[in-house]
Formats: sequence, structure tokens, C-alpha cells
Amino acid sequence: MRFATKPIRVGQELDSDHRAVIQPLYQSATFGWASLNDVPKIDYTRCQNPNRLSLEQVIAALENGKHCTAFASGMAAIMGALSLLEAGDHLLMASDIYGGTFRLADKLLPKYGIEVTDISMKDPASIAQYAKENTKMIIFEAPTNPNLRLMDIKAIAEQAKKLGVLTVFDNTFASPYLQNPLDLGIDIVVHSTTKYISGHSDVIGGAVVTNNDDVQNALIEYSKTVGSVPSPFDCWLTLRGLKTLSVRMKQHCENALAVAQYLEGHPKVSKVYYPGLESHPDYELAKKQMTGFGGMVTFEVNGTGEDACTFAEGCNVFLLAESLGGVESLIGYPPLMSHATMTEEQRLAKGIPPTLIRLSVGIEDKDDLIEDIEQALAKIPARATASV
Ligand SMILES: Cc1ncc(COP(=O)(O)O)c(C=O)c1O
Repeated sequence: MRFATKPIRVGQELDSDHRAVIQPLYQSATFGWASLNDVPKIDYTRCQNPNRLSLEQVIAALENGKHCTAFASGMAAIMGALSLLEAGDHLLMASDIYGGTFRLADKLLPKYGIEVTDISMKDPASIAQYAKENTKMIIFEAPTNPNLRLMDIKAIAEQAKKLGVLTVFDNTFASPYLQNPLDLGIDIVVHSTTKYISGHSDVIGGAVVTNNDDVQNALIEYSKTVGSVPSPFDCWLTLRGLKTLSVRMKQHCENALAVAQYLEGHPKVSKVYYPGLESHPDYELAKKQMTGFGGMVTFEVNGTGEDACTFAEGCNVFLLAESLGGVESLIGYPPLMSHATMTEEQRLAKGIPPTLIRLSVGIEDKDDLIEDIEQALAKIPARATASV
């Protein structure tokens, strides 16, 4: 079965009572036993639920994976993957990683006796020098937030195999439509399904996909023990959104490229970060490991932090809000939103100056998006040279 058919047909039999075409919502905490000798396949929703099972089958199929476990959020999914570590283990984490993952590794893991080192993963060959006897896992992601840099997934997976450590890759920004990390040698793929997978900004969720049976057994044990599971309705909503992933992603990519090209030619814009632009430092790698360049575009205004705020507050079609991956276009201003807890010095070290704007380009008409950007840039005073 090909990609676009999978979310519509995998794991969704016609309902046995009425042949409903869409799977009913199994909003039930518990399921009856026919007799004491006849344990139902699904008996309690913290352990499994029919809506969750269908969603898991679809996400596994889209990632070319054997197993999927759905979680209550992307963070719960990441914690699920990290729960494979034990006291005394060492984790190598990419320094360019989602802030929530950094917080988890920085604040929570040390309490459980897990040591973390954050390193650049731009040069896969350099990773070995940071590995120790007790290194058990590598976690990274690409494209990164907000600079949309790429890591060479296959090369990092190969290094990890040589070192005998598990790899965890967060595929949220690309979605399975643009990138399948398991095919590149990754052991465990995590998603915030809140973003492109559900696609409509109406549900929070996460998922972990793997081909490794031992990892899967440990994840099931962890999720039923901790109870970080999604509700039946959240799974139903996520699957409803997921059915249109391929058409949405095509439009996200087309619109984002048009927006990036427009921004690149604008005098009030000093830099544009989009992996689909030849000017992007990882353009060649993007062509190699992705099937499209995604819906995220980051840029710097040619001016001050105040100018960036004027732009962020000056759009009408783009909405000023956290998150990404929904059908609607959103603007994020990292210094006051996603990266607000960092100091300005820490942000600058991560390539986040006060002039930086992050766009999640939606699937609206691209001319409306470009006109909106044009009128918001017009509110910024023209400047001869960039300054911060
Ligand atoms: C790359 C990435 N991973 C994980 C998460 C966490 O997902 P959630 O908000 O669903 O917990 C996010 C949230 O923005 C994200 O951008």
C-alpha cells in the first residue's frame, strides 16, 4: 500500500454492528469479559483502546515501522523513549534540540541518576569522542528549531551502531511524509503528533515508533505503568487529521517555498533559513534525506528586535501563537515565546538573535500569505544596514 492510502485504509475495519465507514469512538474506560477464561484483547483503556490501536497501526505504517505506541503528548513520547535508560547510563543529546527535550534531559534525568552530555551533531564522525563506557543512547532531531539545520541521519545512525548505542530521532518537524528515519538506520522515532500528524491544532499527542521488539515491550510496560496515554477521542481526532497528511504536506511545502523565496528577495529581510533554498547550508543534505523541504521558514528582519516584534504583531493571516504544523499559518517570536526561558547570551549562542522570526506556513492561498507578509514588513522602518 502506498503512503497516501495508508492513513485511510490501515487498521480501520468497517464496524461490526453497522458497517460504519469511520471507526466509532470507543469512549469506554473498560471492556467486558465474556467469561473468566476469555480475556478480551482490549480490556482497559490505560493499557489499550480500539481508537488508539488504529492510530498506532497507521503511524507505524507511515514510518515503515513494526510497532508504534501512542502517548498523551510529544513530551510524554520523548519521556517514553528516555525511560529505556537506567541509573548510571549516559545520554548524548544534540545541543540543537527542542527546548522541552532539553529541559527534560537537563532537569529530570539527573534526578534518576542519568548523565547527559549535549554536543553538536553536525559532524557525525566527531560523536565517538564523547561516547563513554556507559553511553546507551543518542537523541537528536532535524530540521531543528528554529534555525532549520539538518543532521546527517544515516551517518549518525551508522556511528551509533559502531558504538553499540540506541538512536532516538524526533521526526516532528518533517513528518513521516518527508522523512522516514527508521529506513536510515534509526532505532526509535518519536513524534509530537500535535503538529503535522494531526495537522489541525486541536489535539495534543505523541507517538514512538520502532522495529525493535525489546524496545516495544519496554514502551508498552512503561506506558501502562505510568499511564501517559492519549484519550480515545484524542486518538480519533488525530487519525481524522492524519488521513490528509500527504495532501497537507504537499501544500505546506509549496507555500513555504514561495514564502521563503519572497522573503529572500525582500530588502527588509537580512537572512532566510529554509532547507529548500540553495542558500541554506544544508540544502544538499536536505535533498538527500528528505523528499520535500517542509512547512517551516525562519528569517531575520533587517533591523532591530523591536522591528521583529512589529512584524510579528503586524500580520493578519499569520496568527501569533506557539506551535506549528497545523493548517493555519502561525508566527513565533522565539526570544519571547519558545526560547523565552533562555538568557539573551544563550539564545545568541544558539543562533537566535532578537531579529529572528519563525513561521509555520499553513495551507491557505499562498498569495494571501505573501500579501500578509508584505503589509507587515511595510510597517518596519527601512534601514540601510542590519543592526541588533
Ligand atoms: C520538535 C518537537 N518535539 C516535541 C515537542 C513536544 O510536543 P508536545 O507539545 O506535543 O508535547 C515539540 C513541541 O513543540 C516539538 O516542536
